[in-house]
Amino acid sequence: MEQEKILRQTAEPLLEWYQKNARVLPWRSENPNPYHVWVSEIMLQQTRVEAVKPYYERFLSALPTVQTLAEADEELLLKLWEGLGYYSRVRNMQKAAQQIVAEHNGEIPAEYSILLKLKGIGPYTAGAIASIAFSKPCAAVDGNVLRVMARLTADEGNIAEPAVRKYWEKEITEALPKERPGDYNQALMELGATLCLPNGAPKCELCPLRAYCLAYRKNQTMLFPVKTKKSSRIQETLSVFFLVSENKIALHKRLPHGLLSNLWELPNCPSETQTFEFLQKLGVTRAELLPMRSQKHIFTHIEWHMECYFGKVFEKQLSNLVWVTKEEAAAEFALPSAFRKIWLEGLKQMEDF
Ligand code: ADE
Ligand code: SF4
Repeated sequence: MEQEKILRQTAEPLLEWYQKNARVLPWRSENPNPYHVWVSEIMLQQTRVEAVKPYYERFLSALPTVQTLAEADEELLLKLWEGLGYYSRVRNMQKAAQQIVAEHNGEIPAEYSILLKLKGIGPYTAGAIASIAFSKPCAAVDGNVLRVMARLTADEGNIAEPAVRKYWEKEITEALPKERPGDYNQALMELGATLCLPNGAPKCELCPLRAYCLAYRKNQTMLFPVKTKKSSRIQETLSVFFLVSENKIALHKRLPHGLLSNLWELPNCPSETQTFEFLQKLGVTRAELLPMRSQKHIFTHIEWHMECYFGKVFEKQLSNLVWVTKEEAAAEFALPSAFRKIWLEGLKQMEDF
């Protein structure tokens, strides 16, 4: 709510600022050409505005239309892209151009959802083309926009997460001024590129949104955006057993230290361990194992990949397993959610025999 209010309040001052301060760029005009917008947006995903300019001019001189791009020699394409990097981007552009010629009469589609179906065009590029070239009320959320949003609303969402980008796409789509969506999107990008700079050095004293900016007001511009790369978790592969004997299920108590300490678990071992030896140690001397669906569970620092087995136990000896009915388990034994799905599937399978 608060965020929506800030977005609505800042739209006008932002547009006003943009009108006065927008950089003059070759792809900007009163009446933007969709092909020009597309080429510039793809190039701008790789490098800065200043570096893009000469590439942009050269590209359009050589390939002035969607048709010429669709038919271009690969050698020429790669030459025009040389130095920009990510050659797959220009190859995808050509495939998209061929799609446009084949399916859309050579006209770049105006609809966001149709643009999205073109090779190499994701939510950002589709939003940029639809809003800038066709005045469609679509968001175009890139890293600049995410940074501005995070600071403006002091939002702690991790902008490295796709869910956070989706969230802002939705918010901006709802709040953007419908009569000037292209200018609005570009104004946000422009603010991010020229004032609300990355790495904790925004030029707030020049910013038209200062009066509304929560990070600025709290003197916390250094804390935003939150952008933590997904930590690489340790991957563990386990064999997990749902063992049944006389209508009772085997549980095992975990060690008093470490992950899930002292909680109950379905018996399990590292996947490399010999299953037979492991079951022997648990006093299970004769059993039939049936594979169940594999499961994954993500902890903060560890990921478990679980190969699961349903075990009918025919013979067993005393061991440190406890055997419980499902009612006892529900009433008295804390089973971590990592085992939840296997537990439920095991119970279902129990009913079947
Ligand atoms: N960065 C990417 N596209 C942009 C645009 N249209 N205006 C300003 N900065 C951008
Ligand atoms: Fe960014 Fe500063 Fe403007 Fe806030 S006041 S949007 S932190 S430049």
